[in-house]
Amino acid sequence: SGEEQPNTDIITLTRHVLADQFEIGPQATGDLTLLLTAIQTTSKFIATNVRKARLINLVGLAGETNVQGEEQKKLDVLSNDIMINSLRACGKTAVLVSEELEEAVFIDDKHRGKYCVVFDPLDGSSNIDAGVNIGTIFGIYHVAPDSKGTLEDVLRPGSEMVAAGYTMYGSSANLVLTTGNGVNGYTLDAALGEFILTHPDIKIPTRGKIYSFNEGNSLYFHQPVLNYLNSIKYPATGKAPYSARYIGSMVADVHRTLLYGGIFGYPDDKKSKNGKLRLLYEAFPMAFLTEQAGGVATTGTQRILDIVPKAIHERCPVFLGSRDDVQDLLKFYQPAA
Ligand code: AHG
Ligand code: MN
Ligand code: MN
Ligand code: MN
Repeated sequence: SGEEQPNTDIITLTRHVLADQFEIGPQATGDLTLLLTAIQTTSKFIATNVRKARLINLVGLAGETNVQGEEQKKLDVLSNDIMINSLRACGKTAVLVSEELEEAVFIDDKHRGKYCVVFDPLDGSSNIDAGVNIGTIFGIYHVAPDSKGTLEDVLRPGSEMVAAGYTMYGSSANLVLTTGNGVNGYTLDAALGEFILTHPDIKIPTRGKIYSFNEGNSLYFHQPVLNYLNSIKYPATGKAPYSARYIGSMVADVHRTLLYGGIFGYPDDKKSKNGKLRLLYEAFPMAFLTEQAGGVATTGTQRILDIVPKAIHERCPVFLGSRDDVQDLLKFYQPAA
């Protein structure tokens, strides 16, 4: 009995995305692969900073407030700078939208490419100082044919995104990606510096046992949400109530929902007319991933991916997860006629 042989044929993220291009044939330019390589590099760079944060004094506030009125953490600002620099330099982008920048960034002629990237450089800021999982979220659009990159190129429904994903910085760095052909998860092998395919073709269970809401906001919640939450906490006799899990980092809460099933929600309420989460770089990418994994993503009254954005930082209510769980919630929004 010999030692176990190491795998000599690992599938890296780049290899996996390239394989899709071989399917498309010679007309594929490889530009998306190069853009995704730049995004992978930013995730590795941010991951190393997240790990070192407590040692090199990266915890705490940066001293500025972003357009959302939130105090920026040092890691928010650093992660934003890392992404802007890399995405400009890769030569494949035309417009960038970041949670941390009030205005969109239009790329200069020399560096301009044909993709737009909308992103949340560091999601879950409130968890940074406690060492709890945080992440990066991104969505990618193609610029319109003949466009040099304008706001219109990013004020488009999520259904027009060509790719979306997130990286979760946890016990390992996990990059979860869709290019519109299912969802795959990759884990960073720190020794190799490569994201390795570890979760091929992620499918959300059709029903879960977990609900994930900030129930501390119940005072403000509207009746359909309260009624739904009651229905899973006090089910008909014989049925078990759901378990609560809420991390407060959308990336981590959605990641668990994709893998274990259940429902994640950040509703609109009496205080926040459109909820909290941002449409372009939080709701759209996560809705795209959820649908590609076989789940449902809705505001309660419409499919998230159908929303046409009017402003780059606009917000929207979010409910997403297992098909049957989200359908149950929707019944409280549309009482039987
Ligand atoms: P960000 O840290 O990028 O500003 O996003 C925070 C978001 C999201 O990660 C999470 O789902 C939500 O805020 C949590 O909000 P509450 O603290 O209100 O529950
Ligand atoms: Mn923020
Ligand atoms: Mn966020
Ligand atoms: Mn953020």
